[in-house]
Parts: sequence; structure tokens; C-alpha cells
Amino acid sequence: MTDAKSNREPVTKETPDLLGEQIESLRQIFPEAFAEGKLDFDKLRAALGDFVDERPERYSFTWAGKRDAIRLLQTPSRATLIPAPAEGVNVTTTQNLFIEGDNLEVLKLLYKAYFGRVKMIYIDPPYNTGNDFVYPDDYADPLKTYLELTQQITSNPETSGRYHSAWLSMMYPRLFLARQLLREDGVIFVSIDDHEVHNLRMAMNEIFGEENFYGSIVWQKKDTPSNDVQGISITHEYILAYVKSSAFTRHLLARTEEQLGIYKNPDNDPRGVWTRNALTRKEFVERDYYAIKNPQGREVYPPPGTSWRVSRKTLERLIAEDRIWWGKDRDGDMPFVKRFLSEVQQGVVPTSWWDYEFAGSNRNAKMEIRSLFDNEAPFETPKPSKLLSRLLTISTTNDDLILDFFAGSCTTAQAVLELNREDGGNRRFIMAQLPEPIATPVTLSVNGAKRSEREASRKSLQGDSSPSAQNDKPMETIADIGKERIRRVIAKMQKENAGKMNLQDRATPEDLGFKVFKLAPSNYKQWCFVGANENSPKPTPAEYATQVAMFAEPLADGWQLENVIYEVAVKEGYGLNCRIEFAETSGVPIPAHGDDLFQRNAIYRVTDLDKEQSFYICLADKLRLEACKPLPLTRTILFICRDTALDDKAAANLALQCRLKTI
Ligand SMILES: C[S@@+](CC[C@H](N)C(=O)[O-])C[C@H]1O[C@@H](n2cnc3c(N)ncnc32)[C@H](O)[C@@H]1O
Repeated sequence: MTDAKSNREPVTKETPDLLGEQIESLRQIFPEAFAEGKLDFDKLRAALGDFVDERPERYSFTWAGKRDAIRLLQTPSRATLIPAPAEGVNVTTTQNLFIEGDNLEVLKLLYKAYFGRVKMIYIDPPYNTGNDFVYPDDYADPLKTYLELTQQITSNPETSGRYHSAWLSMMYPRLFLARQLLREDGVIFVSIDDHEVHNLRMAMNEIFGEENFYGSIVWQKKDTPSNDVQGISITHEYILAYVKSSAFTRHLLARTEEQLGIYKNPDNDPRGVWTRNALTRKEFVERDYYAIKNPQGREVYPPPGTSWRVSRKTLERLIAEDRIWWGKDRDGDMPFVKRFLSEVQQGVVPTSWWDYEFAGSNRNAKMEIRSLFDNEAPFETPKPSKLLSRLLTISTTNDDLILDFFAGSCTTAQAVLELNREDGGNRRFIMAQLPEPIATPVTLSVNGAKRSEREASRKSLQGDSSPSAQNDKPMETIADIGKERIRRVIAKMQKENAGKMNLQDRATPEDLGFKVFKLAPSNYKQWCFVGANENSPKPTPAEYATQVAMFAEPLADGWQLENVIYEVAVKEGYGLNCRIEFAETSGVPIPAHGDDLFQRNAIYRVTDLDKEQSFYICLADKLRLEACKPLPLTRTILFICRDTALDDKAAANLALQCRLKTI
């Protein structure tokens, strides 16, 4: 929408309207089904002809609350993401992200910037055991729910009457949005157990399409049974895999030492190590039942009921190529075919059965977290990083983007960092985790020596944000645990790194860092009075006038420059790793970096390097047009400023040079 007076568009203040986008796609395909801007179902039905299933009984999947779950998904977010640089590591260079907040709001905020950009999603949601916390979304006011919930958390007991429904209503919109973020050749893996695996499969069939079901991995989470259980001791979980489309191809797994051990070279064959395969086939085929002479001239036949796997002609070729093995003494009773390691696939195909030796167990996961947290286990249900490493190996390479939006203690982040070190990759991660309060805040120990909570809070009150001060703060939420785990993994890797030259040989430097963002109310004032909902009483003219006056300044009281720039960026579809730099300083000296970067009067250039796009923004109270002169503006370049910063003439002038949006 363009302001008639001066060609300025309002800046995007909400996340995309998903329903609107879907209706628009439908309108593009079936324009004949729309009349006066509304969908006419009869016309659509007529256009679809026999494809419409009109039978009263048909296959469908539903639950109490599905309609609300879909409505929730379609409700734009009124929130934003604000940076918390003091909580990250190497924040100026890193591409890794940790986002603290309810993941539904977070996914909505990421939607525009990360649409079709994520290669692999792994999630390990609550399994709905009755004890774990299932987020009770409220479509009427999702952000308010979030703000209230971060103070007190409840679970979804089996007696709630809507046990499966509540879980499905929580999962459905999140999975729907997750699919939007996947690349065409992307894949999602979801950990789950018997409580909801059947419902999850149905929901994912609906969202991803049955044809995109890629497999169900059975993971052996326990290495010993629980002998005190009444029924069957459960030692496994599932990981359901769905692809976005058939463009996904999985990678092979490297052979293990054990698998490589079967390849030997007893005859010093110049083609290298090999293993032997039987030449017999377990069925009788007359044509392939013939005598073969071993090197000592003895005739050998296949055992009764079997035949050779190859024809006489092929056998002659194999003998000529020295591919038939009769044993070291060359006088065996059976011939074997030599299979050279150099000639087989460079890895093994993943199977659907992952035992604890291959992928780690819950016990390993606990030990791993203890080893990072000075023998304490601040988080109850981590996954082993080996499991994540296996999933990452079969699905990602190079600089792929990985998302985990039920991040917990951030095992996925650890696995990404460690796998990158192992194979020289530059995979990047986005973790999202609710600041779910933990029952007893854990005060961290530094170098094994525990600090008292009193001392820790004293330091934090003094505003000390150095890494060691971060360590001194009590961890009050699961998000705190996740962030601290990433910091500790990075610190450990940096230590291991010291003095190792080979790491410098990488094509690009290793990314040992992460940035933190937090879900927060928007920096824009929310228009919540007039028409807040259809039942609101109509405001009087005086009330309406007061409301309009309040919105003369659209930014919320106490707004901060950096936060507004990020909100504008994200809602215009720029990634959170966008580069923010001075474009023009309007006389303000250019500071080196850090907090000084944010000067109210300066013009900034914001660039999303992945998308190769930039916009300019200035949040000064008054914008001087001369300050814009040095900028390389064209009619397609976006320039954003405050609405009150320009009079109509200046706005019209600027709008001739660029695409002008105002706040
Ligand atoms: C089973 S744990 C994940 C554990 C993780 N895979 C690990 O290895 O540490 C599930 C996590 O999802 C988080 N969670 C639940 N609802 C959420 C929501 N709406 N938004 C973000 N995180 C949520 C919980 O706080 C919990 O930490």
C-alpha cells in the first residue's frame, strides 16, 4: 500500500499472513473460483470436477482443536527478536544462532527470512508422557501466553481430557512452519516414542505428504533392560524422517574400523585390500551348474541345490583378471570372488536400526553433559551427540543450515560444531529453546570450584558481562543451560585447537561462536483499541482521537536503535546474520565497533549476504536529504526511515530516488 500523499509505504510490522499467501496462490491457479474478492466454493468444486471426494465416509485425520491449531498458525506474530550480544561468543563473526523463546513465535519470525533455506531440521519435542511440558498455545494472544508462561510452567496430564489433542494442536502448526523453512532438498528428523508416534506419523503425512515419508529409524536408547518393569522394558525410540521433496539424497556413512577390518590383501594384489564373496547362488539354475577347475586342476561343482552366480563367460573373464580366490594354497574346495575396497561405494547405506554402539545411548548422553558441567547433570533428557552426528552425516555437508527448535541442552549445536571440526565443514546452526524455568536454579562452577549464588548475583547486578561472569550466573531456565553448554563446548574446542596448525588449513576459518536473540514484544506500538476484535465496543470519537494521538509516535516507549533495526530486517525477510554497518554518518564520527556502532542519527546499510540484498535505514528524528546523497540509491533499493523524519516534500523527493518505506 502506498501513501497517496508522498509515495511512502509503511514498513512491514507483522510476520507474513500465511492464510493470505495461500489464498493468493489459490487465486492464481483458480481465478474463476473467486468473486468480489471472496472464494466461491461451488465454483471451486466445479473447477475441480471428479477430484473432489464427496463420499460421506472417507479417510481423514482430525482431533479436538485442529481448527484452532490452524488458526493459530495463520495468526501473524506481534513479537520480535532482540539481540543479546553479551551472551554469545565471537558474535561479530559467527553465523550460528541461539534464539530464546516459544518456537512457534520464533518460526513465524524466521519464516520470511529463512523460507526454503534450511537443509536439515532435527527436533526432539516433548513426547507427551504426562510429565513433560506441552506448550499450551493460545491463539487469541500467543505473545501474552508466552510472557506469562515463562514465569510458570504446567504439564499435560493424561487426565486432561484432551491429552492427545493438546499435543497434536501444539505440534501441528510448528511442523507446518518447519516444512516451509526446508530447502527443496531438505529433510526433517523427529524423535518420538510410543506415546505419540502414531499421531505424529499421521500429522506428518498430512503436512509433508505420505510420499515424502523417508523412513523410521529405531534407536536403541538403553543398553540394558529395566528388570523391575511390569510389562515390556522399552529400550528404543523412533526418529521419523520426512523430506521436502524427492530432491533430497542421503549421504553414506563412513565404514567403521570393524567393517574395514574384513578387507585384507593376502596375495599382495596391486589393486589393494579386498574381501571375498561366495560364487554360489542358493538356487539351482541348470545353465549355471558347471564344473570349474581350480589352479591345481581339480574339478569343483556348486553344492547340491545351488549353482554359480555367474555364467561360464563371466567366470573366464574373472579368472583372466585375477579376481577368483582359491585360498592361500590355491587348492580350495570352493572359489570366491575378490571384492576390492577401491571398487565398492565409499561408505555404507544407513539402515533403520541404530544400536547404542552406533548412535550412543541415553546413558552416554548424561555422561556427556556431566563431563561438560563439572560432573553435574543440569538437564534430564539430553540426546547423545553421536546420534545427532549420525543424522547430520547422512543429511548435510559444507555450509548447510541446521535448525533445532526444541533445542533443550543444545546437543544438536554441539554435534554441528564437532562434526565441522571432524570433516572441515562449515555447517551453521539455529537453536530455539523456551526459557522454561528449571525447578532449582543451578549455579555453575568455574574450573571445578563452585561459586555461591550470592556472589554470582552480585556480579550480574554490577553488569559484568564477560564470559566468566556469564559462567557465574545461576542457570534458571533450560535456555540458560543450552547457551552455557554451547559456550563450554566452544571453550573446550578452542583449548584443543591451541597450537594445532592443521586447523588453519581449512578453506574457511572454523566458526566457533554463536549469537543470542530473545523473543520480545514488538518495538512497534500495537494498535489494540479500535476493532481489537468483533466484540469490542465501538470507541467514542474522543477515545478514538486519544488513540490516534498515542500512535503519532509508532515506536514503543524506550525503543532501542539496534533492536528496531533487527525487527525491521527480520520482518523485511533479512536473516539474523545480516551485516549492519554505517552507510553515512551524518557528521557522527565512525566508531570502531561494539555498542558505539548504534548512533541515532546515522544511516545504516543492512545486508543479507546469503540473499545478496541490502537496505538502508535511518532512525533519526529528522532526516537531512543531503545525508542520503552519497548513497547509491536506485528505484529498487529500499530506504527506511521514521515517518515523522520527513515532510511531504522531502518524502516525495526521496521516493523518486528509491523505494521508500516509513515507520
Ligand atoms: C526433549 S527436550 C530436547 C532435548 C534436546 N534434544 C537435547 O538433547 O538436549 C524438549 C525441549 O523442548 C522445549 N520446549 C517445549 N516447548 C517448547 C516451545 N514451545 N518452544 C521452545 N522450546 C520448547 C522444552 O523446554 C525442552 O527443553
